[in-house]
Formats: sequence, C-alpha cells, structure tokens
Amino acid sequence: MKWCVIGAGGIADRRTIPALLTDKNNELVAVMDKNPAAAKATGEKYGVPYYTDEREMLSAVDATAVYISTPVFCHYEQAMLALSFGKHVFLEKPIGLDGKESRLLVEAFKKAGLQLSIGYMMKYHTLHEKAKALIAEGGIGTVNSVRAQFTCWYPDIPGAWRQKKSLGGGGAIMDLGVHCLELLEDMLGEEITEVKAFYSTRTFSYEVDDGAVIILRTKSGVLGHVDCNFNIPDKASESKLELYGSEGYIICHGTLAQENVGTLSHLYAPQGGYEAAQNRSVNDAPVVYTANAAENNMYRRQLAAFSALVESGKTDYSLTDRALRIQELVDRIYSEA
Ligand SMILES: NC(=O)c1ccc[n+]([C@@H]2O[C@H](COP(=O)([O-])OP(=O)(O)OC[C@H]3O[C@@H](n4cnc5c(N)ncnc54)[C@H](O)[C@@H]3O)[C@@H](O)[C@H]2O)c1
Repeated sequence: MKWCVIGAGGIADRRTIPALLTDKNNELVAVMDKNPAAAKATGEKYGVPYYTDEREMLSAVDATAVYISTPVFCHYEQAMLALSFGKHVFLEKPIGLDGKESRLLVEAFKKAGLQLSIGYMMKYHTLHEKAKALIAEGGIGTVNSVRAQFTCWYPDIPGAWRQKKSLGGGGAIMDLGVHCLELLEDMLGEEITEVKAFYSTRTFSYEVDDGAVIILRTKSGVLGHVDCNFNIPDKASESKLELYGSEGYIICHGTLAQENVGTLSHLYAPQGGYEAAQNRSVNDAPVVYTANAAENNMYRRQLAAFSALVESGKTDYSLTDRALRIQELVDRIYSEA
C-alpha cells in the first residue's frame, strides 16, 4: 500500500514510519512537514520526495493512504483535505480538539466510504492482549475495579502546542488519559458510560492540566479510575494497569508505553466464605508474564490492521466510533471537572 505522511517530524519519524517500512507490502511515497528542516530531514532519511505543503503533496503523489501526525489543532482540516483527495486516513490520537469536530470528521469519512482509523496502539501490546484474553476466560472472575496510571514529565516549553488548549485541546487528560480510557474499553469489552474528574495545573505555568484523576463507571457497573500526569518524573513513572475481579487480579506494570515492554502478574484466587483474618494476596505467588520488545511492534500491528481493512475494500468504523466516544467523554470531563 502506498502511503504519504503529513507531519513527518515527530512520532512519525520516531515510531510510525520505521514500523510502516518493516512491512514489505507498504511503500512510503512522500512526506510533508510544515517545518522545512523536518520535511527535508525525513524525506532524505527515507529517500522519498518531501513537501512543506500538504495540498501540493496530495496533488503530486499517488498514495492510497495518508498518515497524519500533526498537532491536534491541524487534524480536522488535514484529514478533510485528504478525504477530498479520496484518501483513506490513519490519524494520530486524539481525533480532534473536541467531540464536535471529531464527530464531523468521522461522519464525513463514513459518508465518503473511506476508512478513518485512529492511532490508539496500546491494545496491540501483547500483555494487554493477554489481559483481555484472561478476562474473557474468567481468569479474575467478574471485573469489579480497574485503575490505569499513565504519566510523563512535561515541563514548560515555550511554543509547545500541547501546552495550549487551543492547539492541543487539553493537557494530560487529552494526551495521556485518552489512551487509558480507550484501552480500558477495549480490555473490558464495554463502554465507559460515566466519568467525573478532578484536574489541576500545579507544577507548571501552562494553561492546560498537568495532572488529573478521572473516576469512571462502565455500562455493566465496573468502577475505576485513571491517573494521568505531566508532572511526575519519567523515572518515577509506575505506568500501571490494574484490574481486580471477584476471583483475582491482573496487574500490568510498565506496559503503558511506546514499546512492547513490562510485565503482567495474574493471580487467580477464588475465595469461598468470609475469612476474618483477611489473609492477603501478597502471600500468594501470581503467574508473571514478561513482554519482549523485539517480538511485537504495536505501531506495525495497528497499521497492518488498517492496511488489511483498506485492501479488503471494506470499511470498519467500530474502533473509530470508540475513539469518538472517548473524545466525547473527555469533553464531559473538562466541562464538568
Ligand atoms: N500514539 C502515540 O504513541 C503517540 C505518541 C506521540 C504523539 N502522538 C500524537 O501524534 C500527533 C503529533 O504528536 P508529536 O508528538 O509527533 O508532535 P511533534 O510536535 O513532536 O511533531 C509534530 C510534527 O508536525 C509538524 N507540524 C506542525 N504543524 C504542522 C502542519 N500544520 N502541517 C504539517 N506538519 C506540521 C511539526 O513540524 C512536527 O514535525 C499528536 O496527535 C499526538 O497526540 C501519538
């Protein structure tokens, strides 16, 4: 499949283009970046023509799909432009600045019969897939309580788009919290229907949230919370995903990441009657699974799923609809918190 890229200098160059090129069925035909130095550097690095204007690139090259990884405020217009050229689009998360423009975008792609997929890659982590399978086979009984923690250190940086509401749509919730909400829906196989949150900006001087706690309830009644922070040092980041059920737990440690790393601990410990002594699971040994970064690339997997879909001539908006639902939850979080 022939691809071109809009916004080639950031995650596209770090993760996505290298992942794309590991698949012999993919061909990169051009890159575009508004920053001439980034356009030139990535064009030369991958040996393809480079542009600083997206319309010029789309007019000049023969591509089936466009990967868009620009700042969030660019997503809507650039995806609509790609659509006007009849392209399928793989768009980085989040879809847009808010639920309204995200919905307009998704509806436009559906109407045109073109695929729009969103870059929530974490569900392709082998340990997240393992967790999903364990839950489905009753490995922790009925899931009752979940918790996700995703953080990074993001200090004041002059001109950084993520630090302005009008350019990024929000802060830690919009950038990190969305991954957790999407992943929890995927793992639990059900929708998050209620959210409430506290957020603040207490460490840095930018206008968006540098820390947040979201509490949630799913359709069937699973309760949970998501912690997302820009103000915890990377070395202090635990990056945890915890799922507790009526018969045990699954704890993923260090898996909320860009690489297939971390561990999953699974404890199956069904209990009959009440025990006044309340002996704790720390005394039991969970089964521990360790991820191997070399054996899986989440970015490659998400692109392979997209390519297979496009090449089949079909469209599937189920994951896109989920990404849209997350975006609308985030609107509620920001407006009510
Ligand atoms: N899924 C993931 O793992 C992941 C990780 C990081 C970022 N992202 C997402 O990817 C997108 C980009 O984030 P990033 O970290 O790469 O940002 P970045 O700022 O590092 O890079 C963005 C690139 O886009 C270019 N750019 C800016 N405005 C442009 C425009 N109007 N047209 C074309 N190019 C333009 C910049 O010059 C830069 O090269 C965001 O939506 C972000 O949320 C996803």
